[in-house]
Amino acid sequence: MPMADAPIVEARGLTKTFMVGHAGGVSPLHALDDVDFDVMAGETLGLVGESGSGKSTAGRILVGLIPATAGSVSLFGHCITGRDGSAALRAVRSRLQFVFQDPFAALNPRMRVGRSVAEPLEIAGKLSRRDRNDRVAELFELVGLPKGSTDRYPHEFSGGQRQRIVIARSLALNPDFIVCDEPVSALDVSMQAQIVNLLMDLQQRLGLTYLFIAHDLAVVRIISTRVAVLYAGSIVETAPKHDIYARPQHPYTKALLDAVPRPDPAFVRARAISGEVPSLLDPPPGCRFHPRCPLVMDRCRAEAPKLLSSGKDRQVACHLFEAAR
Ligand SMILES: Nc1ncnc2c1ncn2[C@@H]1O[C@H](COP(=O)(O)OP(=O)(O)OP(=O)(O)O)[C@@H](O)[C@H]1O
Ligand SMILES: [Mg+2]
Repeated sequence: MPMADAPIVEARGLTKTFMVGHAGGVSPLHALDDVDFDVMAGETLGLVGESGSGKSTAGRILVGLIPATAGSVSLFGHCITGRDGSAALRAVRSRLQFVFQDPFAALNPRMRVGRSVAEPLEIAGKLSRRDRNDRVAELFELVGLPKGSTDRYPHEFSGGQRQRIVIARSLALNPDFIVCDEPVSALDVSMQAQIVNLLMDLQQRLGLTYLFIAHDLAVVRIISTRVAVLYAGSIVETAPKHDIYARPQHPYTKALLDAVPRPDPAFVRARAISGEVPSLLDPPPGCRFHPRCPLVMDRCRAEAPKLLSSGKDRQVACHLFEAAR
């Protein structure tokens, strides 16, 4: 595995505003607001947060599927958001991949799965048909799919196997960085563990770097090197995996961890975080978490806290920590 000391992804001031239509006209929806983060070579950055917090939006911008409204993204040292962004993106595109939540939707139901996996190779036009077939067989073996199953159709596989097919296709062009957007959320628990193990094994063998997006903190805990917590379009905390679970700093991270169901039957029911996720059409002023925060202070209602260092490899955006810094 490569040393995790160089960022291959650098996001700075990343901002995304969607214009959404409604009865009264069109309004800006602030999906991401001035987000900074790095992904280091060879690591898995877990990106967590409630539904609608902007996780998929961030992942999509990183691989060039949608443009940012403001801010910059550098991939392997190429800025894909600047004036020459589209040329930079073309230069790095084959090194990037995106794995979605629903493998069924990601596969053409009428195409034999071997053909689906070969498609990126065909489009790249680098290999002869025979070499492509060899490469597909190699990819099927790499992700643990049965030998000789390339002529079957997606519906002839289990959900977990379908996700293996999607992963095989994502590996066809030897990417370096893969955004995995809830890749196991649609699978049952036993399948989840298998796919997470496969992703970890592939990371070791191929030196991959992941952004792993998930709701499920238990899955993120297994796979991540570091974790970034998004709340309503802002990063509230980043830290090495062990630290964030053992000593969360931001009140939102604490609430999120408290809301995880525990194996102990006395705690089986998860405690919901009180209050509601704010509307992104009209986000609260100051800290976006302040209306739900048990430790809210006057300052939090007026001034948005910056994401600042709060320990070794840790950052938190919370006024409570500023005094301690
Ligand atoms: N194409 C779009 N047009 C308008 N609004 C959008 C679009 N894509 C996302 N949004 C909005 O941006 C916000 C963030 O969405 P996003 O899909 O990034 O959240 P998420 O954290 O991935 O949520 P989930 O966990 O449900 O997948 C949401 O309010 C969503 O409705
Ligand atoms: Mg999402």
